[in-house]
This record gives sequence, structure tokens and C-alpha cells, in this order.
Amino acid sequence: MAIRNIREFGDEVLNKKCKEVKEMTPRTKELIEDMLETMYDANGVGLAAPQVGVLKRIVVIDVTGEDPYILINPRIVETSGEQTGQEGCLSLPGKSGQVTRPNYVKAVALDVNMKPIEIEGTELLARAICHELDHLDGHLYTEKVEGELQEVVYDEPED
Ligand code: NI
Repeated sequence: MAIRNIREFGDEVLNKKCKEVKEMTPRTKELIEDMLETMYDANGVGLAAPQVGVLKRIVVIDVTGEDPYILINPRIVETSGEQTGQEGCLSLPGKSGQVTRPNYVKAVALDVNMKPIEIEGTELLARAICHELDHLDGHLYTEKVEGELQEVVYDEPED
């Protein structure tokens, strides 16, 4: 496993549409493992393959830090409600912005064994699913942001 370089805003790979994964290969498995390691290393809750420069329809999401979802060729099949809140992206470090998303999302995808799975979530998980799937079509949250992007203020560590 290896930590990969996260592509940042302005890199044109982030604006491209990703291709469907047709079969699981050792190379794709390695990509997924690297995406997980890269996401955890950056303290992110989600990462999409184009963010590490690979135009494949793969995202990893972990909003609890305990159990990642690996979604291959994911597709949203149901949404409801609305939530408005701050959103960030590992490709725009130190920034956040207010974005409105559905409050509930259901998606279908394939797992690492290319078996169909279903994922549903509310609040942060619903937001993360929408955000990461947008990446696969070359979209960033900056297109949906309401108002200005803000600088993220980190709390000073206490010790
Ligand atoms: Ni992002």
C-alpha cells in the first residue's frame, strides 16, 4: 500500500468523467487500498479515484473512521429531504463552503468482489455519497457552493 498524491483544484483530471470498472484486477485492488490509505492519512471522510489521478468510477467513504465503504460504479437511486451545511474536499485543502444536499441518499454499487451492494445514509453519509459521486463526473462542490468559500480555522491543539 502507498499514499498517493492528492490532485488539487485546478488540475484538469478533476474535471473529467470517469470510466466504469469492468473487472477487478490486481492493479485496481491496489488502487483501492492506496485510496483508503490516502484518505485516512489526510483525515478525510471520502476520496474518489480522480483525486489520485485515476479516471475510474471508484470512491471510498468512511464517515465514522471505523468501517469504509468501497463503491465501484456507484449510482444514486433515491434521495429525499434537504440539508445545508459546510462541506470540504481533500482537493481544496483548508477551504470549506456551504452546500445544500439531500438529507437521505440510497445508492447502488459493486463491492471489491464486483458483487452488487446497496448503501443508504442520512446527514454526513448522504452528503459524502453525493460529494464523492460528483467527483466521478468531474464535478466539485465549488460549483454548488452558496456564497463564498471560507478558510477552515483549525483549533489549536491543547496540551
Ligand atoms: Ni472531494
